[in-house]
Amino acid sequence: MSVTVRVPAKVNVQLAVGAARPDGFHDLANVFLAVGLHDEVTVTPADALRITCAGPGADQVPLDRTNLAARAAELLAARYGRPADVHIHIAKDIPVAGGMAGGSADAAGALVACDALWGTGASRTELLELCAELGSDVPFALVGGAALGTGRGEKLQPLEVGGTFHWVFALADGGLSTPAVYREFDRLHEGSAVPEPEASGALLGALRKGDVGALAANLANDLQAAAVSLYPALAETLAVGTGAGALASLVSGSGPTTAFLARDAASAESVAAALTASGTCRAARTTVSPALGATVL
Ligand code: C5P
Repeated sequence: MSVTVRVPAKVNVQLAVGAARPDGFHDLANVFLAVGLHDEVTVTPADALRITCAGPGADQVPLDRTNLAARAAELLAARYGRPADVHIHIAKDIPVAGGMAGGSADAAGALVACDALWGTGASRTELLELCAELGSDVPFALVGGAALGTGRGEKLQPLEVGGTFHWVFALADGGLSTPAVYREFDRLHEGSAVPEPEASGALLGALRKGDVGALAANLANDLQAAAVSLYPALAETLAVGTGAGALASLVSGSGPTTAFLARDAASAESVAAALTASGTCRAARTTVSPALGATVL
């Protein structure tokens, strides 16, 4: 017997970052949008916890207890006083260390899959609490759709989305470490007052109405300058996508994946073709949003 859960990647259509808190985290106004790139997490009973991974970038995924999916299984098992005796297999399609919360999605997937396999019957609220304990981006992978994350990003408020948005994602060579990007953000803002992060009313309105032009005009990522500072070639990728007709471009989360909002499916295909031909990225993928959260298949 096994259980498979499908989990989505995310793009932050707004990522407003405040000053570093005493605990090292940053307060955020984080507008998450789930997109149609997915991993699939399968759990099967085993003698002991074991983790395997296949797909693009699988060789960069840790296969020990540091993997967030393994920690998710252990956390649920500990909570219910049972052994975490499962084989977790991750079929990867979300870029690894790409700023699209793939590791967080795998953790949410493992939690939901183990809950179903073990019949623990944890409530939604309890699952969300466990997700928040695992990482700032994990609760969103559980709920999907669109949501405003505050605190360090883990306190979620669901958002209405009034239409389908077309995206292109340019995958970069290598990854960026999220803590390193936040440290670079702190360095770039040293000595200056960082305003309190606040969600943009115009952006939330654009999502609600499904207005792609207004969404494009209000996309914002406060980590973008830090990501580009650590990975300067991203500036070129961003320019290629915009030059090819994307309505707007931005770094996805802490990067180095870059995101391009397109008017429609045809435009997304031509932006993707231009990005691929430019040689400024490893690959370009088209997809739509919003996407469902963790779903048992
Ligand atoms: O919560 P998570 O483990 O995903 O965060 C990874 C790292 O990103 C943290 O250790 C911290 O350096 C940084 N971070 C932050 N402020 C946030 C979220 C993450 O500084 N709100």
